[in-house]
Order: sequence, then C-alpha cells, then structure tokens
Amino acid sequence: MLSFHRVAAEDFTAVNQRILLQLHSDVPLVENIGHYLVEAGGKRLRPLLVLLCARACGYRGDRHIDLATIIEFIHTATLLHDDVVDVSERRRGRLTANAKWGNAPAVLVGDFLYSRAFQMMVALDDMDIMAVLSNTTNTIAEGEVQQLVNAGNPGVSEANYLTVIHKKTGALFEAACETAAVLSGCATEERNALKLYGRHLGLAFQLVDDALDYRGDPEELGKNVGDDLAEGKPTLPLIYTMARGSAAQAALVRDAIERRSADRLSEIVAAIDACGALDYTLEQARNAVDQARNQLGFLPPGDHKTALQQLASFAVERSV
Ligand code: IPE
Ligand code: IPE
Ligand code: MG
Ligand code: MG
Ligand code: MG
Repeated sequence: MLSFHRVAAEDFTAVNQRILLQLHSDVPLVENIGHYLVEAGGKRLRPLLVLLCARACGYRGDRHIDLATIIEFIHTATLLHDDVVDVSERRRGRLTANAKWGNAPAVLVGDFLYSRAFQMMVALDDMDIMAVLSNTTNTIAEGEVQQLVNAGNPGVSEANYLTVIHKKTGALFEAACETAAVLSGCATEERNALKLYGRHLGLAFQLVDDALDYRGDPEELGKNVGDDLAEGKPTLPLIYTMARGSAAQAALVRDAIERRSADRLSEIVAAIDACGALDYTLEQARNAVDQARNQLGFLPPGDHKTALQQLASFAVERSV
C-alpha cells in the first residue's frame, strides 16, 4: 500500500470486497480469469482517485464504493484487451491472461467486465455519471484504435501521440475524478477542476509508462519492457529521438518502428538516453503533474487533498 492509500484505507477495503463480490459469474472461467488478475493486485490508482475526490469534496454517502469498483472494472477490461492487442506476456508480476488462457478467453472476459461495469452503473442510477462513463469507454476504444493505426509509422507527430495518450489513459483518470465530483454534488467549476486534475494526472501517468517501457525494471513493474518497440509504437521517447537525436540515432529508431522490431532494443535505449529523450519525456510528465496539482486550489486543506497531491507526485516519481 502506498502512503496516499492510507487516508482512504477503510473505503479501499470496501472497494476490494465489492470487486470480489461483483466478479461473480455462473461460468467458472469468468471467475477464474477475473480473480487471477484482480488478486495479482495492481496499484488501484483509479478507484483511489474516486474515493479521495469524493471525500475531499465532503461526500458522506457510500455510493463512491460502487463508483470506484466500476472504474476499476473498466480499467481491468482495458488491460485484458490491451495485452491481447499488444501481444504482452506479463502483467502484475504474472503471465497475462492471454498468455495463460489464450486470446479468446481474455477478450471475452474483458467484455464481461465492461458489461458488469455498465450493469453497476445502471444500479447507481445517475444519468450524468452514465454519460461521462459511456463517453469515456468510447474514447478509450478510439484512442486504442488510433494507436493501432499509428503503429509502424515513424512520422507520427508529438501532437498525435498526445491525443492518443489522452484518449487511451487520460480519459479514465479524468472520468474517475469527474464522476466523483458529480456524485458529491460539486458545483460546475469544482467538477471541471477535478476533471482537469484527472486529465493531467493521466497524461503524466502514461508519459511515465512510456518512459518506463525503455528504462523500467521488469521485476518491479511486473510487466516486460520493450513491448512498445516490438509493436512499432511511436511513443514520445522515440518521437523525440527522431526529431532531436543525431542522424544515426534517428535512423536507428525509424528503422525499428518500421520493422516493428525490438531486436536492437539495447542500442535504442542507449540512443534515447544519450539524446535526452527520456529526460524530455519525464519533463513533460512533470509539467502535466504541476498542472494537475494547480487544479486543487479550491479544496479545503486536509488529508484527502494532501493525498491527491501526493498521488500526483507519485505519477512521475514512480518506478512501479
Ligand atoms: C496500466 O495501468 C495501463 C496504463 C494506462 C499504463 P496501471 O499501471 O495503473 O496498472 P495496474 O492497475 O497498477 O496494474
Ligand atoms: C495502456 O497503455 C492503455 C490502456 C490500457 C487503454 P499500454 O499498452 O502502454 O499499457 P501497458 O504498458 O501494457 O500497461
Ligand atoms: Mg500494453
Ligand atoms: Mg497498449
Ligand atoms: Mg506501456
């Protein structure tokens, strides 16, 4: 548990129990795969954002437990699908569901989790929340498709990349914070501030994820590094190297993206390090986190606000 989990410890335990309860299915394979992934843990950052934002806004009810569960189910569904499309073999320190059971079960259980999230949303009975989350899941899917289209193309711009990461990752962080604000009955201005906090935080989170795919420790991360290169993904460390590195460094990266090959991973890691691409990527992440933290001014001082600030710092300092 990270330090900023502690302030929401009781709520957090309730969310973990709700997750297990809602994984129920009469079909054992659904439960097996669901439990396999959920019990491996994960950082649970998105449900934590729901809990912290709701409490920071003075929410006193218990519907935030279901909302947090819904958000984590959507996240888990995207991971199941993501590991299929990225052909990834490790997640949360274990084999991915696709590596263990095959693509078909992983995709279908992902669908189960998505639709369970929507069943729970209906039970929550809040049309505003339904609107945000249906738009969000649509946006995530669109971001993933755009990324698929970009794969193998070394000409993708930084702006295009930023749009993709906002859609595929920022959108769910944004939705976690915004829906917590809706649940808490916040005024429009405060709702928008929390929404922006989530958006910038999510951007920073994915920027760091993309840096860690080149410099992270697979043991600590619980997933393999180098997967992005193997899929020919033009992420920011590579985009920067092609724009600012030497001609030789740029050519090395361009060729690897076009061939969708990680066979020269160590040379590429050296190149993106040497030309400052990782520093640049992390600097962009730090800027995004500063923008996120700047949104929190309206919240009264207190443990929940502090935890939201700490969570933002963690997004850039993390190695997990
Ligand atoms: C992984 O998210 C997918 C990305 C958006 C990079 P997390 O790193 O939050 O995954 P878990 O839930 O902690 O495993
Ligand atoms: C994850 O991006 C985005 C979504 C899950 C929608 P990545 O593909 O970079 O996430 P990891 O690195 O596999 O966790
Ligand atoms: Mg992936
Ligand atoms: Mg992916
Ligand atoms: Mg990644």
